This record gives sequence, C-alpha cells and structure tokens, in this order.
Amino acid sequence: MNQAAILDFPLSRRLKTATAEAHAGLDARIMKASPFASRERYGRFLQMQHGFHRDVADIYADERIAVLLPDLRSRCRLADIEADRADLGLDLGMNASSRPSPGEGLGERLGWLYVAEGSNLGAAFLIKEAAKLGLNADFGARHLAGHPDGRGLQWRRFQEAMDGAGFGEAEEAHAIAGACAAFARVRLLADQAFSS
Ligand code: HEM
Repeated sequence: MNQAAILDFPLSRRLKTATAEAHAGLDARIMKASPFASRERYGRFLQMQHGFHRDVADIYADERIAVLLPDLRSRCRLADIEADRADLGLDLGMNASSRPSPGEGLGERLGWLYVAEGSNLGAAFLIKEAAKLGLNADFGARHLAGHPDGRGLQWRRFQEAMDGAGFGEAEEAHAIAGACAAFARVRLLADQAFSS
C-alpha cells in the first residue's frame, strides 16, 4: 500500500499498522516465557504490567485527554495491578531501568495511551489463561478484567475519541512515535521480567 493511502486512514488504523510488528514480537516474547505456567511466572508478568502502567498512570489524569474521553480516569488499571500484587503477596520493586517519560505532548501521550488501552483486548485471552492458576477478576487478575459494558465497546469509544481529536499530520506522527516508544518500553520490561 502506498504512503499516501495510509495517511488517509483514521489515526486508530495508522497506529495499529505502525505497531503491528512490535505487538506480534511482544506477544511472542511473553508467551514464550510461559507466564501462566505457575503463579511465580505470572508474578513476573505482573511486574512487567506494573512497570508499564506506572509509566502511563499520569496520562489518565491528563485533562486535555479527558475532554476527548470523559471516563479517562476510571480506565487506569494501576490500582488493580497493585491489588493483584497484594492478592498474590508479591513485592513488585522498582524496575532496574530508569523510567522513560511519555513526555508532555498531547500526540505522544495519546500514542502511549493507545498501547495501554489496546492491551485490554488481548487481556480477554490472558484472563482465561490466568483462570487456570485460580486467578480471576476478583483475585489476582483484576487488571485483566473487561469493562462491564464490554471490552469491544470500551475500545470503540477510545478509537472514536482518538479519531475525533482532529489531529493534523504532525500530531499524528507524534502519536505514532509515542505508541512505538511505549511498545519498546513494554518490550524492555518484558525482557527484564522474564530474563531468567
Ligand atoms: C501475550 C500477550 C498478548 C496477547 C496474546 C495479545 C493479544 C492481542 C489480541 C488478540 C488483540 C486483538 C484483539 C481484537 O482485535 O479483538 C490485541 C490487541 C492489542 N494489544 Fe495485545 N496481546 C498481548 C499483549 C499485549 C501487551 C503486553 C500490550 C501492550 C502493553 C498489547 C497491546 C495491544 C494493543 C495496543 C492492541 C490493539 C491493536 C489495535 O487493534 O489497534 N498487547 N492483543
């Protein structure tokens, strides 16, 4: 497909296309590490999730984004991850690497948010795997639970908010760069969490 045609796509589609390879690599990396083979392995997955959701937590309090997505604050899953940690009696220390910043730019922050919100879709599959370890939406796998309105609807609302943001080409490019940086960050956290 030529570049001009891709530029005509809505931002949500451009983000998906630009990050498809990073997502596939991350998915394979995580699954190869058998995160659901035991609660100990799952704890490592939780560590990765904790690192990433801590990185993006501030974005859920960004008033500029709340204008586009009124339920923004309630979408943040950091508290659920911390509750999952407490359920399992895990101490998730700070990650060794220095924390990257999603920056202050709206486009870049929306790109990071895209990665965090999109990960809720894959979570539909992951929570079924977690169930085999006795974990569920009320214990240990709270952060993988779907929204009461359904994951699909939540995701469509997010896509509509992004696509309706009225971004120009430069800001869309920032969003794509932000999403790529976020996937690189999660990949680093996965490599650290599953290094042994
Ligand atoms: C082994 C782990 C993972 C699996 C099996 C997985 C699986 C999936 C699946 C099946 C979808 C598409 C669902 C649909 O279209 O209905 C999806 C979407 C997505 N996932 Fe993952 N995922 C995993 C991990 C992650 C992680 C760790 C992140 C980022 C932190 C992530 C970010 C995304 C994003 C951004 C989308 C939305 C793509 C789009 O439609 O624009 N995934 N995932």
